[in-house]
Amino acid sequence: MTQPLVATHPAHASPATDWWREAVIYQVYPRSFADANGDGMGDLPGITSRLPYLRDLGVDAVWLSPFYSSPQADAGYDVADYRVVDPMFGTLDDAVELIGEAHRLGLRILVDLVPNHCSDQHVWFQQALREGPGSRIRERFHFRDGKGPAGELAPNDWESVFGGPAWTRTKNPDGTPGEWYLHLFAPQQPDFNWEHRSVRDEFGSILRFWLDLGVDGFRIDVAHGLVKADGLPDLGDHERMRLLGNDAGPCFDQDGVHEIYRHWNTVFAEYAGERIGVAEAWAPTLERTANYVRPDELHQAFNFQYLATAWQAGPLREVIQGTLDAMRPVGAPATWVLSNHDVTRHATRFANPPGLGTQIREAGDRALGLRRARAASLLMLALPGSAYIYQGEELGLPDVTDLPDEVRQDPAYFRGAGQDGFRDGCRVPIPWSGTSAPYGFTQVEDGPSWLPQPEAWADLSVEAQTGRDGSTLEMYRSALALRRSHPSLGGTDNLRWLPSPDGVLFFERTAEDGPTFLCTVNVTDTPVTIDTPGKALMASNHTTTGNAQTVLPADTTVWWTTA
Ligand code: NOJ
Repeated sequence: MTQPLVATHPAHASPATDWWREAVIYQVYPRSFADANGDGMGDLPGITSRLPYLRDLGVDAVWLSPFYSSPQADAGYDVADYRVVDPMFGTLDDAVELIGEAHRLGLRILVDLVPNHCSDQHVWFQQALREGPGSRIRERFHFRDGKGPAGELAPNDWESVFGGPAWTRTKNPDGTPGEWYLHLFAPQQPDFNWEHRSVRDEFGSILRFWLDLGVDGFRIDVAHGLVKADGLPDLGDHERMRLLGNDAGPCFDQDGVHEIYRHWNTVFAEYAGERIGVAEAWAPTLERTANYVRPDELHQAFNFQYLATAWQAGPLREVIQGTLDAMRPVGAPATWVLSNHDVTRHATRFANPPGLGTQIREAGDRALGLRRARAASLLMLALPGSAYIYQGEELGLPDVTDLPDEVRQDPAYFRGAGQDGFRDGCRVPIPWSGTSAPYGFTQVEDGPSWLPQPEAWADLSVEAQTGRDGSTLEMYRSALALRRSHPSLGGTDNLRWLPSPDGVLFFERTAEDGPTFLCTVNVTDTPVTIDTPGKALMASNHTTTGNAQTVLPADTTVWWTTA
């Protein structure tokens, strides 16, 4: 098995390399990564102190979920001031320090941009409330009169993604019932009106603020939601809105949104060093997702179709090929993602029967889930393009499915959405070291952690897994090192399927020079015998390879090379 390489990252200031086309991007959820000041909440200095871990893991870039000034109604996705770091995460100097240290280590930094909505504490919204109906500043949001004789009914039938109506009625400055405002998410997250010039100008300025501080790009929250259909028409019998899985409707994926990204593309181009935009855009098809990454728009879009695919050979092959086919005409790299802060971790999804979606509350069969998760991760890292890792998946963490109600913070949980309401389970602070909570997350002995960590996590910590043969962490380290060093594991469109038994995925990747890379994935629950295709590089599970034939254990991925 190949050992991890040490820090051979491209220098930050190197000439154009299209670094993002094959990058492995690690998502840090700041609340839950590392807590330097001992208050139980992760922070920017904590992240900075752990950057060497990410460098050694072998990722190329780090995406930070929001750390801006926020009342935390939606864990920071309700931003009150886009240019200020929330004191719970540190200061702007801490952010500058983090960016500088990351660059020194050869890591790039992406920050989260939340342009669809802000916090109800944002200065514009507060002014809009204060000034009342007729105020020009209300035009920057979607304020409307209600329906019904006294305006007592919401202006249309849209429901919020988190449950309940997507409209909240305001009070006039004199205390009488007033206009309603639109919020696709929580009431504390009013939607901006992107038809308004000031909104567009303000976000141009926010982009430049962070680009000036040296960030390498942005993950763009709800990138498909900024523009709504003219007149905000009723949904009618159209399916209600969700975080993932919406088909076409008046709130999402409107054609007008692309003009915004064409503008942002010109802003990125003003800066040296290949700055990028990554769309969190759920579109009904992969072809429509590809619209966000046309050459004059953003650079990457999350592949939620892939994330939502069950552990089944047929659907996996279909979504992989479908993704490559959809991205080819626009020349964008495919992206692959299995977990993030909004869905049940894949070790738990795959521990349960297929077809339960991305929000699962059952722990399921843990050993099965981990075995499949490891196989799925090794498959993902073998695919052409860019891959996303969510903090803790490299440790094989499961979701925490038994959090007591009193510790939960996900707004969707309280609004009874019935879906997307159990996101706290994937947000539990990660274990670094030691044998009891807080497992080194809080860098103070016996310190608190904002969500309780399970007792069984001692064995899953970074410390416990480091150097342990066969641990999930060492598997990721080896895989990421090989991804860098094997000549055929570069490129964005060099995958060819090879004939294989039922339930087995088998593909090769080639480069002009050098050995061929091959990947076999047994997606079934029984061992399958195959002709040994080359020399084994690594496997997700203990596998004995034979000269002529190899038995692939159930739920196992093996990487091979021809030389
Ligand atoms: C998507 C984010 O990933 C999620 O955490 C958030 O709740 C919504 N957008 C609203 O900002």
